[in-house]
Amino acid sequence: MKRLLLLPLVLFFLACSNQDSQRQKKIVIGFSQCTTGDDWRMTMHEEMLREMSLYRDYDISLIIKDAQDDNERQIQDIKELVAAGIDLLIVSPNEADPLTPIVEQVYEQGIPVIVIDRKINSEKFTAYVGANNLLTGKEAGRLAAELLNGKGKILEITGLTGSTPAIERSKGFRDILSQYPDITIEQVLEGAWLIEEAQRITDSVFAHPTDIDLVFAHNDPMAYGVYRSASKHGLSPYIIGVDGLNTPRGGLNNILNGYVSGTVLYPTGGDKAIQIAINILSEKPYDRFNYLKTAKIDPTHARTLKLQSDQIQEQQAKIDLQREYMGEMDYLINKQKNFLFLLVLIVLLLILLVGLIIYFLNKKNHINKILDAKNKTIEQQNKKITQQRDEVVRVLKIAEEATEMKLRFFTNISHEFRTSLSLISLPINDLVASEEKVIEKDKLLSIQKNTNRLIRLAEEILDFRKIDTHKYQLNTIHADMVKFMTEVVTAFQPKADRKRIHLHLHVPGSLVADFDPTIMEKVMFNLLSNAIKYTQQEGEIMVNVVLSNSRVTISVEDNGIGIPEHQIPYIFDIFHRAHANLHQQEEEGMGIGLSLTKELVHIHHGMLKVKSQVGQGTTFYFSIPQIQPKAMKAATHGEAGELSESDAQIKADKSKTVLIVEDNEELLEILASTIGQYFEVRTASNGKKALEIIALKQPHLVISDICMPAMDGIELCAEIKKNPLTFQIPVILLTAIDAQQSKINSFNIGADEYLTKPFNKHVLISRAKNLMESREKLKLSLGKYQFLSDSLKDIEQADQEFVQQCISIIHQHISDESFHLDHLADAMSMSRSSLYRKIKKLTDMRGVDFIKKVRLQYAAKLLLNEDIGVNEVAWLCGFSDVKYFSKCFAREFEHNPSKFKNAILSAKDIQDFVS
Ligand code: FRU
Repeated sequence: MKRLLLLPLVLFFLACSNQDSQRQKKIVIGFSQCTTGDDWRMTMHEEMLREMSLYRDYDISLIIKDAQDDNERQIQDIKELVAAGIDLLIVSPNEADPLTPIVEQVYEQGIPVIVIDRKINSEKFTAYVGANNLLTGKEAGRLAAELLNGKGKILEITGLTGSTPAIERSKGFRDILSQYPDITIEQVLEGAWLIEEAQRITDSVFAHPTDIDLVFAHNDPMAYGVYRSASKHGLSPYIIGVDGLNTPRGGLNNILNGYVSGTVLYPTGGDKAIQIAINILSEKPYDRFNYLKTAKIDPTHARTLKLQSDQIQEQQAKIDLQREYMGEMDYLINKQKNFLFLLVLIVLLLILLVGLIIYFLNKKNHINKILDAKNKTIEQQNKKITQQRDEVVRVLKIAEEATEMKLRFFTNISHEFRTSLSLISLPINDLVASEEKVIEKDKLLSIQKNTNRLIRLAEEILDFRKIDTHKYQLNTIHADMVKFMTEVVTAFQPKADRKRIHLHLHVPGSLVADFDPTIMEKVMFNLLSNAIKYTQQEGEIMVNVVLSNSRVTISVEDNGIGIPEHQIPYIFDIFHRAHANLHQQEEEGMGIGLSLTKELVHIHHGMLKVKSQVGQGTTFYFSIPQIQPKAMKAATHGEAGELSESDAQIKADKSKTVLIVEDNEELLEILASTIGQYFEVRTASNGKKALEIIALKQPHLVISDICMPAMDGIELCAEIKKNPLTFQIPVILLTAIDAQQSKINSFNIGADEYLTKPFNKHVLISRAKNLMESREKLKLSLGKYQFLSDSLKDIEQADQEFVQQCISIIHQHISDESFHLDHLADAMSMSRSSLYRKIKKLTDMRGVDFIKKVRLQYAAKLLLNEDIGVNEVAWLCGFSDVKYFSKCFAREFEHNPSKFKNAILSAKDIQDFVS
């Protein structure tokens, strides 16, 4: 991984270093030219630029300023160049004197100065580049002497007289000619280095007769001007110039064209100037005076020189081309370098990226491993938690079941207590009424009082259970609350009087509201009982009923002992007694009352609250909606039990008899009056009495409570269902016991319906009606099969009982194939013949047929009610031969036993009957 990262780093630094090498040193050279209007100066610039291109390590800028032969302008140019921040000044001064001070000034500023071609009158410059003009003049002198062959007259056309080349060239020329006494310089004119000026001044000479043999012009352009003037005047003196350039107007072509007789080579030195400049600026060694070679050129070697020069120029052009190519190559190489640099950068980034990915993948793997380990731990913990949860659920279920069992037991026992206590209270009431001895009466009153308390407590427990299982329904009436409250308070008056407590009731004139009178009575009973209990003699209790904002507020206020503040939050807790510190009341109650009262108020959509102060008294108050939500109402007007719209849809049928079995007299009465609006009603206070009534006259339906004395509802139902004479009677069990197991038990023993108190009377009536109709339909279906029960309808009760007894005995031996008339006679303690006769008389059947019929009817019942096969049914009913059983059965019921159930139970409501 480290090596992988190292490679791109090396490449990167290499690329960077390459980039670094491309960085060139920046140099700005200022060049102040006296003029740029001739080939010689142009050639100088070309040489400079060509030379500059050779220095690849430097980024050289050359700023050329043209003074156009004007001293003042050149001074200004130099100032501007310095101001532009040049690193070095090259100057070719127009004239020495005027330019010397500014050049000195620049030099003194520390800017290196190279003087080229023309000089200044000072040593304050860094270096000089140029040919020696004295020697140039001498070469011109020698050429003149040769051309004149030592004798003749000369006209000298000078350059600008203030410029050093003009001075020095004149001097050198004279130095040589002084050696030739027959050669004389007849006239000297200033041509100022310019072609036109030279032509103009020569014109003035040649316009007159002249004996001039040779003209020496200080440069080739002026020499050409002289040629033009001479040829214009038809003269052909020897003409010589200086410079010797190989340009179209240059000296070499002038010679070859025959315009002039010779020239002196005067190199520009542009390349040399740049070399010296770079050396100065890069602090390399350089010569201060750099004199360039000079030589005379005459027609004899002008051609050779021209050819050489052409070749050089050609080469130079090629070199330039090469350089151009190189420049392009440089550009390409730089581009490639940049590309390479980018490539390296990208590769580096990619490798870094790959490195990072690998790093993070490793890290991820590492984290994953840690997470896996953690997950495993969590999984194990989860498993443990799940196990623990399952265990908790199991324990909870057990606890729930245990609680349910306890509650069921508690409810049942409360039910039993209530029933037993009611049974106790009745004789006690009678005894209290009849006893005259005061002492005995007091004891009886005490028994009565405590019995009533126990009954109330049992009822409260049952109420709690109902609330707890959400079975407590609000059966409201829309009635006068004032009337109701007046009755309740009046009922408490005797109790209040006994403690000499002043009981007041403050109510509006009338107040019609929705309330459940049973519940409201319990609420008021509790609140008033408490108030009387905890108010001292001569105390006051005030009951207020107020209507405000569509809510009825009821308060019970006493000026009793009050409740300590710290106990107030707990007074509504079940079994909490707020006044437990008062010894005299300790034997009173269990404190269930307030808790139950709160729940009962809650059912009324109210909230029971309390305000109390020790020694001052207590106020319990609550408010309920004047109009209860619709769903909660049992009836809209009048007493509960009146017909509602849905009741009206159920048609009364007094031909049907319903037997109601209930030990609670009040409830029995309510049930009887409610159901009596639709059906004929018989009543019984327990199972035993019910069976007696059923034996006398079979009802169409039995509605029975479960918890009852003598014989409970379950037993009664079982008896009805196991008797072939009565098993078809539908049984509805009506009970306060709302436990799943109790329901299952009820259905197991054949109950047709199980309704929990407080039952909805519409449901009860419609269910009763449906069950009776189902039985009717079944009966119609079974009509042709004439069950024994139907054939016995018209005989005496004693005979019915006799037949019933016979049937019961046969049932007891139903699976015994060998059970015959003899056995039945034995069981009935009768002789065989007596039994035979009696059966014949009552049923018009032979004994053996009677027994067979009972067996077959039992089989029919099994086939209809049980989910067992024909073979099994046959054996159960004492037929060992299934074929014989099927034959007998088909003869009796017109259907093969295997098809009997489907044939009979085709209608859906009959399905209800068997299910
Ligand atoms: C060019 C030129 C040359 C001459 C030189 C002298 O401007 O006139 O012809 O040799 O200047 O400075």
